[in-house]
Amino acid sequence: MDFFIDTANLDQIREAQDLGILNGVTTNPSLMAKEGIKGEENILNHYKTICEIVDGDVSAEVIATDFEGMIKEGEELAALHPQIVVKVPVTKNGIKAIKYLSGKGIRTNCTLIFSPGQALLAAKAGATYVSPFIGRIDDTSTDGIDLIYKIVDMFGTYGIETQVLAASIRHTMHIVQCAEAGADVATCPLNAILGLLKHPLTDNGLAQFLADYKKLNS
Ligand code: E4P
Repeated sequence: MDFFIDTANLDQIREAQDLGILNGVTTNPSLMAKEGIKGEENILNHYKTICEIVDGDVSAEVIATDFEGMIKEGEELAALHPQIVVKVPVTKNGIKAIKYLSGKGIRTNCTLIFSPGQALLAAKAGATYVSPFIGRIDDTSTDGIDLIYKIVDMFGTYGIETQVLAASIRHTMHIVQCAEAGADVATCPLNAILGLLKHPLTDNGLAQFLADYKKLNS
């Protein structure tokens, strides 16, 4: 499973890249706003900076909701850098835009997926990725991970090449559960990735090894 980081924060992106396990980045308008990135030029420059930090795909979301606006923005974003993947919401116009953009060889990430049917339509339109939002489903007292299993199973049955990019990951166990479900990618907050390292027996074991090593040299 590939690891993407779900943030527009450059320090966090650098820290994940330095770990050597990062395969890409996802952003959305809320994450860009959180970093205080304002104005079209600054936003586009921010995407370019992210592309220079990481080796993999960088999702940049369109803001337009009409078909013409979506494809115009999508083409502009894709022209910014070869690593850009155009993120498009799963609406009627979004599906048409994904079909158009994929026909032009532009890679897309269909976002705000909450059902297997939405994922199927996005895949039919040629999306490179579909992004099911597991944390937001969990928030409604429904099992978000179950959606990952269903989409992975459905895509497997038909040999669909669209990648399942598990999004809205809130904690470390979501990452493990996405891997168990067969997601192609999990896009995660940095603290959830770092949480994978944590185990008290690792801390205790290391402390013991270091204490015993000191005895060898005293
Ligand atoms: C990433 O592609 C999504 O936009 C993001 O994971 C949504 O996460 P949230 O539900 O925590 O806002």
